[in-house]
Amino acid sequence: MSRRLILFGCAILALGGAGFVRAAAPPVPALLPLPAQLHVDAGRFTVDARTPIVLADEAASTLRTGAWLADVLARTRGLRLPLKHGAAGAHAIVLRRDPAAPVADREGYTLTVTPDGIRVEARDDAGLFYGAVTLWQLLTPDAKQGAVELPALSIRDQPRFAWRGLMLDSVRHFQSVAEIERLLEQMAQHKLNTFHWHLTDDQGWRIQIRRYPELTRIGAWRTPPEAGREGEPERYGGFYTQDDIRRIVAYAAARYITVVPEIDMPGHAQAAVAAYPQFGVTGQRPSVSSDWGVNPYLYNVDDATFRFIENVLDEVMALFPSTYIHVGGDEAIKDQWQAAPAVQAKMRELGIKSEDALQGWFIGRVGRYLDAHGRRLVGWDEILDGDNVPADATVMSWRGTDGAIKAALMGHDVVLSPAPQLYFDHVQGDLADEYAGRLGVESLQSVYAFPTVPAVLGAAQAKHVLGVQANVWTEHMPTFAHVEHAVFPRLAALGEVAWSPVVANDWPGFLARLPAQFARYRAQRVGYADSAFAVDVGTDRNLALASGRATVTLANQAGFGAIHYTLDGSVPTPASPRYGAPFNVTLPVTVRAASFAADGSALAAPRQRVLDRAALLSLPGTALANCPGSDFRLRLQPAPDAQDTQPVYAVNVFDACQLVPATWMDGASAIRVEAVRLPRNFALAHEQRLVVARPHATPFGELVVHADTCAGAVLASMPLPDPAHGPSRFELQAQLPAQTGERGLCLIYTAPIDGPLYAIGRVALTP
Ligand code: ACM
Repeated sequence: MSRRLILFGCAILALGGAGFVRAAAPPVPALLPLPAQLHVDAGRFTVDARTPIVLADEAASTLRTGAWLADVLARTRGLRLPLKHGAAGAHAIVLRRDPAAPVADREGYTLTVTPDGIRVEARDDAGLFYGAVTLWQLLTPDAKQGAVELPALSIRDQPRFAWRGLMLDSVRHFQSVAEIERLLEQMAQHKLNTFHWHLTDDQGWRIQIRRYPELTRIGAWRTPPEAGREGEPERYGGFYTQDDIRRIVAYAAARYITVVPEIDMPGHAQAAVAAYPQFGVTGQRPSVSSDWGVNPYLYNVDDATFRFIENVLDEVMALFPSTYIHVGGDEAIKDQWQAAPAVQAKMRELGIKSEDALQGWFIGRVGRYLDAHGRRLVGWDEILDGDNVPADATVMSWRGTDGAIKAALMGHDVVLSPAPQLYFDHVQGDLADEYAGRLGVESLQSVYAFPTVPAVLGAAQAKHVLGVQANVWTEHMPTFAHVEHAVFPRLAALGEVAWSPVVANDWPGFLARLPAQFARYRAQRVGYADSAFAVDVGTDRNLALASGRATVTLANQAGFGAIHYTLDGSVPTPASPRYGAPFNVTLPVTVRAASFAADGSALAAPRQRVLDRAALLSLPGTALANCPGSDFRLRLQPAPDAQDTQPVYAVNVFDACQLVPATWMDGASAIRVEAVRLPRNFALAHEQRLVVARPHATPFGELVVHADTCAGAVLASMPLPDPAHGPSRFELQAQLPAQTGERGLCLIYTAPIDGPLYAIGRVALTP
């Protein structure tokens, strides 16, 4: 029998035209993540509706895994396989837990397909489940329904990392129990095993604590800016009852996912202080915050506050069996501690010299409490700052990987979840239709390329790297559609980074295996982003404006797939002309284009660009760069809790200044701006002083148009309407002195910085 060893993910690739890579039929089965070892053998085995799933041991977990496999196959492939208990027979799928199974790792398994049938074997129920996940992927190689013929093969698999995590922020926006279960099911399908659940913050307290009912009666609700207007609810919030939490923990456990709760302290505590001001520093009761960012409210450091925290943790530990309990520790600005005589007196009493060291003492005290209850503290990398963190504390590195390196050198275990690379609130593309989020772009490829273990760590220190985690902060994700768009398909990249051996890292192979995963997402109605494959229709605007002819360039971010296009407005299909190299068109024309996988399935929805004079002279605000000085940039929706995913506006909260790129302006004599007013709900803490304030000549400020640069001549100044009246979206227009040739523009809002933010929906130059 010939055995063909497949090296990890080395799909054979053929170069198409213009740098586009087209995969030949991938010799590697479309598995995500790629297993540690995979051999394809001679022979085949067909699974059809008569193939039974045989449970070869009596464990309840084996039955549950068999039932999971039967259910997911029925849902995604229309294959309804009978489940049977009994001895391993031929022509069956046999699931067996066996203490003598070849792979010792409790999450590992073997899977063999021979002409006689399929066997999945593992020592532990987690491994058996992961084997079933792999088998399901083998049985869903494409979007078809019904029977599947598999190549004979053998897989021997186990994870690279023990911590394969995803964090969900359920505070800034709230997800239903059913939505969280959908996410957990997908985590399991990507072989992730740690769900870090961010449950408390300034903007809400989301976990029912029986001893402190005000935490959810008051702390779970905030009054949004524009409450009751512009589609905003009168109040925003919600919380998970203890029954909800037990249900989620059980649902996760059935998929071998540990839920690690996060109760953030000593900062990000405003909702708790709003509920129980006696455990805050000032004694004053704030409102639950509706401002994103860094708010000043800290917990107190007196014994009564620690009793409160310990009582809360008692209920948390009763709900969550996780060894690890996350206590946050991030972004606690110390102004309130510095200003409070009682806190300062406590520091003197303890002989503590700085507020950072006081935070170290605070976290250390909570860590010892967790230790005493058989749990372990995990916190964001600020927990290192005070040099008092318990030796067994685990550090989650988010400010880059420096915290991880420092922690591992000190002998702490670490989890790598650095911003921006593994922050899924960063957008994954920069086309105008990308959803709200933070910029810059963290693409599918940048997640895939994440170098897990920092190179400076030696082998002994590298052992402290428990694994990797991506974080889904939800300030800009008011709905679960936003969450799914942010998470998928980057979760597939994360899964491979976290699970597969380091030698598997193979971006072309990953891309070749992705179309099958997209079909799995579609079969389960997972709203994945197509940003990596969306076609960007490029042209030289100025040449087109000057000459009436344009050279069109089509590309997608990933540089993968075949791009097909039309010029008559019709929907492109694989039968439409295939893009090979830039081509010329005469204006006006509408270019529509889409990317397709080798099997003809669409990788992304078609994108369209109208090329005519008016369209070339009109730019979305998202295409305008920040002015020099600040590169911070968000894509925001008009209402923070909006139920839609569009429109989206590019905003620099530090400086309301944007640049129109050099544009051929012959014949342009007026400017029209679609403007929008947004709530300025950003707590910038010590960075507030960086917000640029400008003089204004009319009561509510103006939008000022400068020629070329922001120091250039003023071409127009358009007064803004009274923000207290009228719609938040409005149009501004002005005549411009006659322009010739290529010129850039600088657009500056001069509105007072204690009022709303302003953004540009679209700017158009008109005759
Ligand atoms: C964090 O992003 N503040 C951990």
